[in-house]
Amino acid sequence: MRYQNIVILTGAGVSAESGLNTFRGADGLWENHRLEEVATPEAFARDPQLVQRFYNQRRHQLNSVVPNAAHIAIAQLQREHSGAVFLITQNVDDLHERAGSEFVLHMHGELKRARCQSTGKVVPIEDDLSPDTACTVCAASGCLRPNVVWFGEMPIGMDAIEVALNQADLFISIGTSGNVYPAAGFVQLARQVGAHTVELNLEPSQGANLFQEHHHGMASEVVPAYVAELLAGS
Ligand code: OAD
Repeated sequence: MRYQNIVILTGAGVSAESGLNTFRGADGLWENHRLEEVATPEAFARDPQLVQRFYNQRRHQLNSVVPNAAHIAIAQLQREHSGAVFLITQNVDDLHERAGSEFVLHMHGELKRARCQSTGKVVPIEDDLSPDTACTVCAASGCLRPNVVWFGEMPIGMDAIEVALNQADLFISIGTSGNVYPAAGFVQLARQVGAHTVELNLEPSQGANLFQEHHHGMASEVVPAYVAELLAGS
């Protein structure tokens, strides 16, 4: 293959065919609340029960979905590529891991992790959280919050992402609308270091003109096809 250091960015579109709603495809409402009303630190301070219920429901939903061909193809690329494949996802689901990806940087956090607000320690969770849940780190009630990045908060792992992008010779963006920064700006950083840039998405994204190559279609089709092309060395 002509590329050594591949960086992949995925968004909600990669999990759409597994049955998880994208953000901007649905009507954006949850039980009549706008997403911005539940996915913020202010909402959590105002009504922790409501915010916990939103994430509890989403965590439950993971039990009824499975990875699709796009997740599986990305994991195959990570296994079979002789160089590095740095996978960044904006998704809080665990479908990349369940497809076999061993390294995944969840820049917007994970549904299956919680954070102790007193110590900052992150712990795995399977069960529902509520304002009465005793923290497994510090034992206080109600201090565990979902380890997800809310509107207005800093994404996770930006230093490592910057290092990976600086070394990239191929940047592939999959299933993301290009609306949310800093992720939407990664393509420009990759171009600055001379990486080839590829968009795999259902439709042209907001920043589609920043990419040098495009394959538009369902992720379960275009991702396996593109991975096969890469692994065949073309
Ligand atoms: P969006 O919902 O904004 O975009 C999903 C993209 O996937 C759209 O461009 C769709 O066209 C495309 N798409 C839909 N179905 C597809 C399919 N079957 N195959 C391929 N592409 C498909 O989701 P994100 O870009 O991931 O942040 O949103 C970015 C961030 O916005 C999220 O991580 C979330 C939200 O605010 C936080 O929660 C911090």
